[in-house]
Amino acid sequence: MQSPKPRLFSGMKPTGRIHLGNYFGALKQFVDLQDTHDTFIFVANLHALTGLPSQETLIEDTRNLVLDYLAAGLDPEKVTIFKQSDILAHASLAWVFNNFVSMQYLMRAHAFKDAEAKKSEVNVGTFDYPVLMAADILLYGTDVVPVGKDQKQHVEYARDMAGKFNNQYGEHFKLPKELILEDTGVIPGTDGQKMSKSYGNTIPLSATDEEVKKAVMSIVTDSRERNEVKDPEELVLYQIHKYFNNSPELKAQYAQGLGYGDAKKMLIDDIVTFLRPMRERRAYYENNPKLVQEILIAGAHKANDIAMKKIFDVYEAIGLTE
Ligand code: TYM
Repeated sequence: MQSPKPRLFSGMKPTGRIHLGNYFGALKQFVDLQDTHDTFIFVANLHALTGLPSQETLIEDTRNLVLDYLAAGLDPEKVTIFKQSDILAHASLAWVFNNFVSMQYLMRAHAFKDAEAKKSEVNVGTFDYPVLMAADILLYGTDVVPVGKDQKQHVEYARDMAGKFNNQYGEHFKLPKELILEDTGVIPGTDGQKMSKSYGNTIPLSATDEEVKKAVMSIVTDSRERNEVKDPEELVLYQIHKYFNNSPELKAQYAQGLGYGDAKKMLIDDIVTFLRPMRERRAYYENNPKLVQEILIAGAHKANDIAMKKIFDVYEAIGLTE
């Protein structure tokens, strides 16, 4: 029986170490909402294939992502955690949706346009990414999808696909809504661009104290001296620091000319303190790989029951079961 709580579905790609941008943009919401929502969090490992990772890399990144989920505070007693590749219905539903969208529509996707701007050849997986993502979300009767701002369009696409299918075959899909923390926005990396695995400007959730120190010391600053008045909101340093300390006092200190060296020391302390409990939880699960495996198996069973019912319902509506 479906829980009376609204269903929450989201996930991340296993493509490198999860960082503070992923955490404050999305993962924190998963953790904060796990009590009030019927929560499904998956590892989007089929989506990771667009970058053609090696077998070792994909296995390692998948393992690390699950550890990061647990380290961040997802409680496996409350949340269904699973791997996308364990549920065959994702690719099946994506194939169905492929027939409801045009190439022109997919060419308008930001992610595709970005990929095209960087590379002359874009693989079909990258092009079709929003269709698979729509299948992920819609298979589970999802109400809300917590994501960072850059994923807004993808959830809109999922709504579009649900609408198109429903128009032709009747109401089979709920229309999901994105959950974006407007005041969170896009978390900058150490160079001031969006924090992103592909820019090498991240502070990983699993960073050691040394790594935190090195990353914070590399945050871009300008040549203004201590005691010069500054607008904190303009400073990359403060744009990151405010996630750890949003007190008016800290903002006032920055505004009154806190030196960059002193600010960096404070930020290192704040991040290290923040990451400590995560590091402990991570170590616990890292030392209990069987437990992690059991969590994923239980998650796959639960997710598969729901996904199989939905894909059967869809196949039946289309006329694929007779
Ligand atoms: P991924 O792995 O690229 O990113 C995971 C989440 O982190 C958010 N994010 C950020 N938020 C704020 N500031 C940043 N600097 C920052 N960098 C990343 C992203 O918005 C995202 O929410 N397409 C998804 C994976 C996915 C998915 C899904 C998500 C596949 N299917 C179905 C939800 C539902 C992605 O690229 O995640």
